[in-house]
Amino acid sequence: MPGTMSAGTMRRLASSMQSTSTGSLPDYGAQIVDPYRLLEDDLHGIYEDIRSELERNTNQPELNTIATYYFDGQGKALRPMVAILMAKAVAMISEMIHSASLIHDDVIDQSDFRRGKPSVNVLWNHKKVAMAGDFILAVASMMIARLRSDEVTLVLSQVVTDLVQGEFMQLGSKETENERFAHYLTKTYRKTASLIANSVKAVALLSGADETTSELAFQYGRNLGLSFQLVDDLLDFVSSIQS
Ligand code: FPP
Ligand code: MG
Repeated sequence: MPGTMSAGTMRRLASSMQSTSTGSLPDYGAQIVDPYRLLEDDLHGIYEDIRSELERNTNQPELNTIATYYFDGQGKALRPMVAILMAKAVAMISEMIHSASLIHDDVIDQSDFRRGKPSVNVLWNHKKVAMAGDFILAVASMMIARLRSDEVTLVLSQVVTDLVQGEFMQLGSKETENERFAHYLTKTYRKTASLIANSVKAVALLSGADETTSELAFQYGRNLGLSFQLVDDLLDFVSSIQS
């Protein structure tokens, strides 16, 4: 019975889980996937953090002792495991979409360096580089499909639509001077904030959040993304007028 299963039994059950796959897809069935091992580091601090949070909120030692009693690391941590796995899947997908877009962007911008090393377009021909960007996006799309959530698929597909449109807006526009800031904000939302906002929203949706909470998550990501890009552009601007 799941309610009485020990962490060890859960681990063995997870290890014995098999899946089948066909064609050229990777054969996940041949691999032993133990979710607890996958998340060992992430789960490690959970109980410690809960205990400190409870302790921080009371000056009554006995209340603290009782309240922290079950947080001894002996639980199955099923809920945190599922929540972290979902968040981790979306984090991977989000970073893959981001990198695919940077690969294309480096070709478009004919960039020389990225993150302290020669950019891909310097090292390989543009056709192959574009294919590599598409490949990352294709694998990310399969990972999205595996989440089996139509809502999340829509949310993350919107990101790709936004990224392309944001980049397209940056390629040239005919806005008048007083439309320029609105254009800049829309472009910034599409190029930067949409990925953060919709990734956070996807995690909220996967963890079963209601509409209000997933909208709050979206707004948090949107505002964080917009402010991050505003500061980044300001720093670029300041350094370009100083040099
Ligand atoms: C960096 O801009 C570029 C982006 C954040 C998005 C680029 C989007 C595309 C090329 C559309 C295609 C998208 C996919 C998913 C294939 P930047 O040049 O202002 O910043 P940088 O200094 O980091 O290059
Ligand atoms: Mg660029």
